Amino acid sequence: MRVVVFGAGAIGCLFAARIARVHHEVLVVAREPEVVAIRVNGVIVEGRDPMTAFLPAVDALTDGMRSDALLLTVKAPDVRAAVREIGRRIRPLPPILALQNGLGVEREIAEGLKEAEAPLPPGLLSRGVNTVPATRLGPGRVRAAGEGEVLLGTPPTPEGRASVDLFRELLGAAGIAVRAVPDIDREVWRKALLNAAINPVTADHGIPNGQLARDPWRGQAEALLREAIGVARAAGQEFDPDEIESDLWRVVRATAANRSSMLQDVDRGHRTEIDAISGELLRLGADHGLELPATRRAYDRIRAREPVLPAA
Ligand code: PAF
Repeated sequence: MRVVVFGAGAIGCLFAARIARVHHEVLVVAREPEVVAIRVNGVIVEGRDPMTAFLPAVDALTDGMRSDALLLTVKAPDVRAAVREIGRRIRPLPPILALQNGLGVEREIAEGLKEAEAPLPPGLLSRGVNTVPATRLGPGRVRAAGEGEVLLGTPPTPEGRASVDLFRELLGAAGIAVRAVPDIDREVWRKALLNAAINPVTADHGIPNGQLARDPWRGQAEALLREAIGVARAAGQEFDPDEIESDLWRVVRATAANRSSMLQDVDRGHRTEIDAISGELLRLGADHGLELPATRRAYDRIRAREPVLPAA
């Protein structure tokens, strides 16, 4: 099977290497430093089950490419541009698995495909929620640590089920734990709630996740979580605040030594996922007349740390 992994951050590298190990033809699409590193050294996985996978890597797709499955592993701010490129170059569109943190990813994908004038056939897009821990060590180098899984939905249509089955088999055969859940949107929300509480505080203060258990960061994370739960409720996703709070502290303990993905982005001078996390909460909150002072403050502080991009 020909698999394209679009995005060579920590998860893209880890999944590309694991999938290639089970004899699939894997192509990595990445930025130039990653492409050069992967061409020279392969994708290097350290930590749990270390390995090196020698894979082709390109910084752009070519016209008329074909692929049987595509893992979209770029961060949320890069989704639209990536999908535009995919829509223009890969015909017919392959089943796509989107593994981003945050909300509104499906909308960005739809916009990207519209810009590419490539309508998405029904059931081709699957949303996944990833909790497999991986840390980027450098271009094409990743450390795999701890337990985690990819959650996939159980779509109502035969086309949707066929896509999910394909990704379940692909990832499962590569040794990546996969679990089907009845409502993937709810799992997207659940993870977004945790990201809304953990990521901005750790990125703003430059602290590993474990420090969140101490004040003043604890108070900040709890305030963000409360506001995010309120938005979820207004948007029709009711979560038990006590249950989500205990999830939060469980994840903080389990990832105590980790630097959150947003902190890693800030450290590297990259754009972060703040817009897809706190930004989406602010947009939805405004639609429902909710005041979100903690979220607004966190959003503004992280935005101020992001690089200023030249006007498009
Ligand atoms: O974005 C991240 O870093 C992760 O989703 C999480 C769960 C916050 C752990 O660091």
